[in-house]
Amino acid sequence: MDTKSMMAEWVASALEGVDAAAIEAMTEVPPSPDMGDLSLPCFKLSKTLRKAPQQIAEELAKALPSHPAFARTTAAAGYLNVFYDKRAFAETVLSAVLQAGERFGAGSIGAGKTIVIDFSSPNIAKPFHVGHLRSTVIGNALYRIHRFLGYDCVGINHLGDWGTQFGKLITAYKLWGDERQVEEGGIEELMRLYVKFHEEAEARPELEDEARAWFVKLERGDDESLALWRWFKEISYKEFNRIYNLLGVAFDSDAGESFYNDKMGAVVEELKEKGLLEEDQGAYLVRLDAYNMAPALILKKDGATLYHTRDIAAALYRHKTYAFDKAIYVTDYAQNLHFQQWFKVISLMGCDWADRLIHVQFGRVNLEGVKFSTRKGNVVLLEELLRQAIDKTRDIIDSKNPSLENKDEVARQVGVGAIVFNDLSNNRIKDISFSWKDVLNFEGESGPYVQYTYARARSVLRKAGVADGAAGAGFDPSLLENAEAQQVLKELATFPDKVRLAMEKLEPSVISRHLIDIAQSFNRFYHECPILVEDAALRAARLALVQAMCGVLRIGLGLIGLQAPEQI
Ligand code: ARG
Repeated sequence: MDTKSMMAEWVASALEGVDAAAIEAMTEVPPSPDMGDLSLPCFKLSKTLRKAPQQIAEELAKALPSHPAFARTTAAAGYLNVFYDKRAFAETVLSAVLQAGERFGAGSIGAGKTIVIDFSSPNIAKPFHVGHLRSTVIGNALYRIHRFLGYDCVGINHLGDWGTQFGKLITAYKLWGDERQVEEGGIEELMRLYVKFHEEAEARPELEDEARAWFVKLERGDDESLALWRWFKEISYKEFNRIYNLLGVAFDSDAGESFYNDKMGAVVEELKEKGLLEEDQGAYLVRLDAYNMAPALILKKDGATLYHTRDIAAALYRHKTYAFDKAIYVTDYAQNLHFQQWFKVISLMGCDWADRLIHVQFGRVNLEGVKFSTRKGNVVLLEELLRQAIDKTRDIIDSKNPSLENKDEVARQVGVGAIVFNDLSNNRIKDISFSWKDVLNFEGESGPYVQYTYARARSVLRKAGVADGAAGAGFDPSLLENAEAQQVLKELATFPDKVRLAMEKLEPSVISRHLIDIAQSFNRFYHECPILVEDAALRAARLALVQAMCGVLRIGLGLIGLQAPEQI
């Protein structure tokens, strides 16, 4: 299956003093198929072998014995080009995919290792905004990808459920709040109170003192403030859960910032002991001037803890609890400095695992082109965004396939999938724009395009009566030597590498982009090569390819958190 390593073994066997691993690392996929399926840039060997690249290529081409997987080689411009034996390639790839089934591309590189994934992490009583959506979607994909590669994954929703804002909220609620209104209005009503606090506090700065006092009470475990805080949290969580349900996302732990409340004293002590803590006008901080960073604030002058304090406590706790191999934090790049600062503090504390903390940052989503029916808070906006996607998809389905049975469910899978896919369609660090035209374009580079390709291929299998059975049990691979079939096979063959790469780079877009490539190559095949033909052997071979393609698309969609509807 792994043609690169097969070729490397082969080439290495004809060379002295160069091992297969080194050859494999040098091997490339040429830009066009007439330059071979794989090629070895021989200039990378000239120093070791003390020969000119073209001479190496020519000698290799001559010396290499015949090989069942490779039909021929050429030497051109210092490259050794290797051409697959098309029949053998079709056979190896299809057998590998069909045999592995749901596990094609899975691995055990993570066996015995744990990754902690801190993602989504919205703030209580504040909007679940589009940045949280992106964190949720990227974190969820990374979770699935790591799990597929054998890691033990711990997904943590590090809820922003602690901090001075709760003092403000309690103050506002006590002054202007009403129980029923909060129950009915949810986060929006909490937001209204919070905003009112800020407006009123401009004229009455003593409100700020009151808020601080409430937060200090809360940190000390005062009953009344705790009860209110719990209630705010419940109300917010109900709304967040609606979004998680739409997305099909779950967490292993909801230990938010408040969870570390009783663990922060020890952190402060440890920082003191290690001589890292410095007093500054009554507040405490860790200076990071030597690293060209602003100090990390640990305690305010009223003793309240901060975002940094809680992240440090959480990291120490997670390390102790999960002994992680890596701990990743998925947030907007605007938090870059925050993470750099406290990662540095952890390393200054002498934790030799500090380099296992990784900030997985991503760019902004520009929602300017989206019109919302309400002028309300962002929470509504986000849920509305998902609902709009579902409604619009439903309209498309109504016109494309009016007799589809479970329209609502399919509209949800495709509508939500469209938004998710858009979030994952490019390198995460890039800002992304949002236009309904692109997001829902069934012909473009979109989630619906991949899902639609899948559904179409599945319908061919159903028509052939092999949708659930084992097609490909006995196909003639020599009937898949044409360029369109070979291109699909190549895309399928590289899928496992892409999964690995997505894991290494913490970049789910590697998989989404690859799904587009698979779907595009499949659609070319589908147009050029009729599948349900009379000729039984040809039909069986093409069906085997369709079935393998469906299997891989389904796995890939699952890895990035999308569903694979049978019909659209
Ligand atoms: N609640 C934060 C926010 O909304 C994100 C938290 C990210 N995770 C962390 N451990 N700091 O911006």
